[in-house]
Amino acid sequence: MTASTFLLRRLPLCAQTSRLSRTSYPAFTTLQQGRSHSHIRPSASLYSTKAVDLDQTNKPYYITTPIFYVNAVPHIGHLHSAVLADTFKRFHEMKGRKAIMSTGTDEHGLKIQQAAAQAGMKEIELCDKVSKRFQDLFDAANISYTTYIRTTEPRHAVAVKEIWDQLLARGYIYKGHHEGWYSVSDEAFYPSTHVEEKISEKTGEKYHISIETGKEVEWTTEENYKFRLSAFTDKLTEWLDNNPAAILPKSRHLEVQGWLKDGLSDLSVSRPRSRLTWGIPIPGDDSHVMYVWMDALTNYLTVTGYPWKDMSDSQKAVCGWPADAQVVGKDILRFHAVYWPAFLMAADLAVPKRIVAHAHWTQGKMKMSKSVGNVVDPFTAIQEFGTDTIRFYLMNDGGLVDDADYSSELVAGRYKKLLAGQLGNLLNRSTSVALNPSAKVPKQPSADNVHPDDKALHEKLEALPGLVDEAMANYRTTHATQAIFDMIAEANANFTHCEPWKLVKDPASHDRLQTVLWYAMESTRLATLLLQPIMPTKTAEILDQLDIRKDERSWEHARLGLGWSKDSESRKIRTGTPMFPQIKLNK
Ligand code: MSP
Repeated sequence: MTASTFLLRRLPLCAQTSRLSRTSYPAFTTLQQGRSHSHIRPSASLYSTKAVDLDQTNKPYYITTPIFYVNAVPHIGHLHSAVLADTFKRFHEMKGRKAIMSTGTDEHGLKIQQAAAQAGMKEIELCDKVSKRFQDLFDAANISYTTYIRTTEPRHAVAVKEIWDQLLARGYIYKGHHEGWYSVSDEAFYPSTHVEEKISEKTGEKYHISIETGKEVEWTTEENYKFRLSAFTDKLTEWLDNNPAAILPKSRHLEVQGWLKDGLSDLSVSRPRSRLTWGIPIPGDDSHVMYVWMDALTNYLTVTGYPWKDMSDSQKAVCGWPADAQVVGKDILRFHAVYWPAFLMAADLAVPKRIVAHAHWTQGKMKMSKSVGNVVDPFTAIQEFGTDTIRFYLMNDGGLVDDADYSSELVAGRYKKLLAGQLGNLLNRSTSVALNPSAKVPKQPSADNVHPDDKALHEKLEALPGLVDEAMANYRTTHATQAIFDMIAEANANFTHCEPWKLVKDPASHDRLQTVLWYAMESTRLATLLLQPIMPTKTAEILDQLDIRKDERSWEHARLGLGWSKDSESRKIRTGTPMFPQIKLNK
């Protein structure tokens, strides 16, 4: 087989068609002819949906955050991506699956090069400093990542070289001429139809911005390497048509399908070294540096040990790829839902199972960002309200679909009303010495003969795990917390309605008191168990107070009546310092 027929066979049908229907691809042909393809392994299918052709039953749940640019220190919006991923990692662990989570920093590209120059620092010094700041934040926020990846690490360069070699060998990279508008801030090229002319109020000079992001763009014309993205329009469409939940929320899935309808253009994947020095050189051509998004997206594979060369089959089976969920902000959806799966398909690797795009945190209704100058410092917020309160607020108020406006008053409001006023109140009631002086677990009432007053609560408790499970399966933390606090509100209302402070005075009402207390405790236990992924520290303290053992805190115990079923007589309920004390706002 000649090199060209080999390459032709390896191209997908759509790519073959486009190749055959056009008269020539001069740069493409020249480049391919200069390369040897002897190292390419033929594969059974062009786009297998498996990372490695192995039984993946032991595969851990693998969730990723985007890697964060180090041109600026973290803000609360960045923390949101990390808390969201951490919540799902913990949720899957609670369900008994091994889970891995990656996060880290995106350290190459023009944006970082320019930020370092502005700060009068070497690029790597800036990267070290800001990357450490992100790590400190994730420690402060109790983010249980398993890998922290920096794109300046040698292991990452290995993965990037491999993916480049694979794409080149499969005929998806060619050298070409590129003209277009480039935004350094977005690190992206835009076609003229996506660009608008503006006039500066200050200087009266004309400038151009990207309509999509509002970021300034500059006209660029250069020789660079291009990725044959156009060959993947059909394949990506097919993937999204066949996997209607590949991108969450649904509106984003539809949006990406819409982008594909117009067909895709090829993508520049390198910049000349004369423009960009801070990046990974193109293998075999030092005069070009890899496009930062291609470099950055590959981090998700680096984390799994890609190219998996020295791994045994069993190690490969548990490496993590394909990711089960990739959390991204909606602003970087195109990179993750179009470019990234196309690179993977081109390299014959599996695409991620799910992309979860969240909405933005705004302040004054503007997206929080350094350039607008409206950022909230997450360290200050954590210091003021505590880690779990901030985690709760982000997961309770920051959704997938609608942007949310951050306000300290609202954080305080959620704390006061929901955490202290509802959960804390129910806990206090459950552990009240006045009502339960023996501090024993009350007798569990029969589920066959529920008291009419407890019926509504009983039903809510029965339904709650299912509701939370469904919300979490759809990556809707806001729906999960809504269901949990809806149940807690019912538990508190029922407690008030049953007036246990009267029952305690009447020996004839002893059994009824036990039942009322049991429902309050069981409601607290269930709510707390289900809140663990969001508020890992506070919930552990509450469960300790309720004398719930460590091995009784998993998903299988999140069922009505499965709390203290074993040796409940020997348990001791503890009252402690108030779980949610009054807080004072800094301002
Ligand atoms: N470096 C790229 C991602 C590369 S991933 C291969 C990047 N970095 S970023 O630092 O700008 O953004 C990282 C994440 O933070 C993104 O998910 C982004 O959406 C999120 N957020 C940045 N500002 C945000 C808000 N104001 N609100 C919520 N999340 C936002 O993009």
